[in-house]
Amino acid sequence: MGIYQKFVLPHLVHLACGQRPMQRQRAKVVPQAEGLVLEVGMGSGHNLPFYDSTAVTAVLGIEPAAEMLDKATASTRSAAVTLHRLRAIGEQIPLADRSVDTVVFTFTLCTIPDTGPALAEVVRVLRPGGRMLFCEHGLAPDANVRGWQRRLNPLWQRLAGGCNLDRDIPAMIGAAGFDMERMETMYLPGWKPASFNYWGCARPRS
Ligand SMILES: C[S@@+](CC[C@H](N)C(=O)[O-])C[C@H]1O[C@@H](n2cnc3c(N)ncnc32)[C@H](O)[C@@H]1O
Repeated sequence: MGIYQKFVLPHLVHLACGQRPMQRQRAKVVPQAEGLVLEVGMGSGHNLPFYDSTAVTAVLGIEPAAEMLDKATASTRSAAVTLHRLRAIGEQIPLADRSVDTVVFTFTLCTIPDTGPALAEVVRVLRPGGRMLFCEHGLAPDANVRGWQRRLNPLWQRLAGGCNLDRDIPAMIGAAGFDMERMETMYLPGWKPASFNYWGCARPRS
């Protein structure tokens, strides 16, 4: 791993994910989590202040990057919910079948290399009736913005730790066997190729 990936990128990701428009998005989604929560790719723990401690029993946060997990330690100190951090990838979740009530993805489906197996793991670990909450940036509806997303994606991926600008979030969720219960979209303030947001709630198809 190079100096950029180990020392610079974790700070950049932490700063980028802490911007006010993204915090406002977290506030729309994360408080809906309940019971035992699995957060996939928890990063530096920006979601922790948004959990409703009266509804959540504990948060299991999985994250492959040790540097991000270290940063999450600071967020843990001020959190009202109990957090258990696990170093793991979404494609291999170290939890039993049907063991969690809610799965939370925020700004992570853009980065997971193989989202099909990761979403299949979510289906496996969710208890019957459990929900997946998500808030993600992805493919924009406007042709000119999509064009820039596709042109810039190879460079962006290298600079932004594997993040993709042009993933079709609802298509990925549907293809993985979820029914969309609710979804909203909008451009957040900022650079359009990285700011089209999808957020909502989905359940595994029964
Ligand atoms: C843009 S950050 C978002 C972090 C956090 N979810 C948030 O909302 O602030 C993307 C995160 O996905 C993590 N990630 C990358 N590959 C992953 C994988 N295969 N499984 C789970 N998380 C992964 C990265 O290490 C990074 O922390």
